[in-house]
Amino acid sequence: MPITKIGVVGCGLMGAGIAQTAAQSGFPVVVCETSLELLQKGFKSIEKNLDRLVEKGSLSAAEREIIRGRLHGTTNLEDFRDADLVIEAIIEQLPAKRELFTALDKICTKNAIFASNTSSLSITEMAVTTARPDRFVGLHFFNPVPVMKLVEVVRTIATNPAAYEVVFTFAQKLGKTAVRTSDRTGFIVNRLLVPYMLDCIRALEEGVASIEDIDNSMKLGCGYPMGPFTLLDFVGLDTTYYIANVMFDEFKEKRFAPPALLKRMVLSGWNGRKAGKGFYDYADPKNPKAMKLV
Ligand code: 3HC
Repeated sequence: MPITKIGVVGCGLMGAGIAQTAAQSGFPVVVCETSLELLQKGFKSIEKNLDRLVEKGSLSAAEREIIRGRLHGTTNLEDFRDADLVIEAIIEQLPAKRELFTALDKICTKNAIFASNTSSLSITEMAVTTARPDRFVGLHFFNPVPVMKLVEVVRTIATNPAAYEVVFTFAQKLGKTAVRTSDRTGFIVNRLLVPYMLDCIRALEEGVASIEDIDNSMKLGCGYPMGPFTLLDFVGLDTTYYIANVMFDEFKEKRFAPPALLKRMVLSGWNGRKAGKGFYDYADPKNPKAMKLV
């Protein structure tokens, strides 16, 4: 059964991006948040993104209205009754996710497929709280969702191959390159990206070079779009710290252990761009200044 109607739970950075991308690809989308205030905040960011596309000429004003018309906000999970695919993009906490999926399992049709956008938590641990572990996958998008071309489609040992292919095809219909991976912590990208970012922090701690020089080296020497410290600030230090801890718990390997400096920065609330301070100070957002940390 192909997917025609999408539900997205969570209208934060990732949820809003997923909803926007699905609507731009022609899917009607119901987006659920816990409060009207959060819903409005998420929709405002979607509208801003769509406006920017109109200003750039990549979307006509009429197309913007059609896309906006495909998006429906709600604070009631019952509105997912007829969704074919529900994508969860709420806070990265397993108990909250398990509770959500248990509730959704009672509301949605038995054919509906559930997907989690988690970046590090176990898909299996969520799937087993439902009566449909065979129709449960991971669908891991990247920030900023409308721009980043990759989606990791994650299967567990219980995922039905036909259901998996339906979701894989859906990810392609979003105009993304879908890759196949299994339910191992970090999937493909974070398994490789997180130790790289942690190593860059260790290099800084050990006095190898400054924040700017490490950033410039990886940007200009390797052609990466952002240097590691700019990327850490962009992803969020709290998020990286959380993922690193989950990965360290799973693999017990030193390369996944969060360095002391990262922990100290998270404890100080210096969580990166969103906090105004991380490896850079964003007092002037157009001209971030490297922090003196070591
Ligand atoms: N939403 C929508 N569009 C955005 C955007 C956003 N938040 N940010 C930038 N864009 C668009 C711009 O409008 C522009 O579009 P155009 O080419 O049509 O004009 C295009 O993206 C390029 O933007 P800019 O010219 O402003 O800036 P850059 O060329 O530096 O690109 C970037 C910005 C796409 C964010 C680029 O720097 C990049 O690719 N950085 C790396 C991002 C990355 O690695 N993300 C993955 C993080 S890991 C993750 O998400 C996994 C999680 O589990 C932790």
